[in-house]
Amino acid sequence: MEAILKVKRFNPEAAKPEPYWQEYRVEVEPHFTVLDALIKIREEKDETLSLRCSCRSAICGSCAMRINGHATLACKTKLSEMARGRPAVTVEPAGNMPTIKDLVADMTPFWSKVMAVEPWLQPRGPEPQGEYLAPADAMQHLVGVMACIMCGACVSDCTVLEIDPNFLGPAALAKAYRFVGDPRDQADAERLQALSRYSGIWDCTRCNECVQACPKGIAPMDRIMALRDRAMDAGFRNNTGSRHTEAFEEIVEHSGRLDELRLAIKTFGMMNVPAMLGLAPVGLRALMRGKMPPIFHKPIPNAQAVQKLFKKVEEAQKGDRK
Ligand code: FES
Repeated sequence: MEAILKVKRFNPEAAKPEPYWQEYRVEVEPHFTVLDALIKIREEKDETLSLRCSCRSAICGSCAMRINGHATLACKTKLSEMARGRPAVTVEPAGNMPTIKDLVADMTPFWSKVMAVEPWLQPRGPEPQGEYLAPADAMQHLVGVMACIMCGACVSDCTVLEIDPNFLGPAALAKAYRFVGDPRDQADAERLQALSRYSGIWDCTRCNECVQACPKGIAPMDRIMALRDRAMDAGFRNNTGSRHTEAFEEIVEHSGRLDELRLAIKTFGMMNVPAMLGLAPVGLRALMRGKMPPIFHKPIPNAQAVQKLFKKVEEAQKGDRK
């Protein structure tokens, strides 16, 4: 059968180095992955098409790219499933990274962010005679995150990185969790303090795109949320992210609904004039569109039911920590 692939091409050595779409028609077998089709195109139709792959078994992480607009591993993605109901399968390089050529992304920013979280064990005290051993139970929660193959699919689809390239991003933060959660690592305080700064754990917007994109089920966003809990438990609360979380919780627990005006004041502080002025355009836009929250906030009729829910969650969390 014939498949149609629309591939985003880019040649930095062209007279006009602009990305453009190129359509390929290729004979494929029903079992073909997208990577199989791309390799066939390169071997039979266009030897200038550049792509990166190695294991072809979803192990090495080198074939991450955007297929039909979402990042995934080309070697793990069946072409027939991607083609269903579409005139063509679109293939682009991974996002949020510069493109070297065609489907080959430059992973330099990815690796520099992974290195920024110091992804190595930092034990303190005397060196053991043999290995640094950890009880199996204490490592169980890290099994998932240790399966990361560093393909960059989560980074490709991260919506925060699209607007703030300084954000450490889901892969580096999931890697940071792997070490913060390791009982043999004793640099938790330094790590959590650094991660609580701008571009760290509090910059995630919880859009869930990284969870969708990850081909290994690492759920980077969940690791970022776990790091937030650990940072707050460790006392790193003097930042807008922590204050926002605490204020949100307190307001909803008190009245059963969110009071956006109080939330902003409690997050940034009334005396923080630059932050308050920075919010003024948002307030103005809300006012003009009739979406300004009321100045006098009323609790919902049965706010006690919400308070009971908060109590139950608190008790469950206490039980989990024991
Ligand atoms: S080629 Fe190794 S993960 Fe796809």
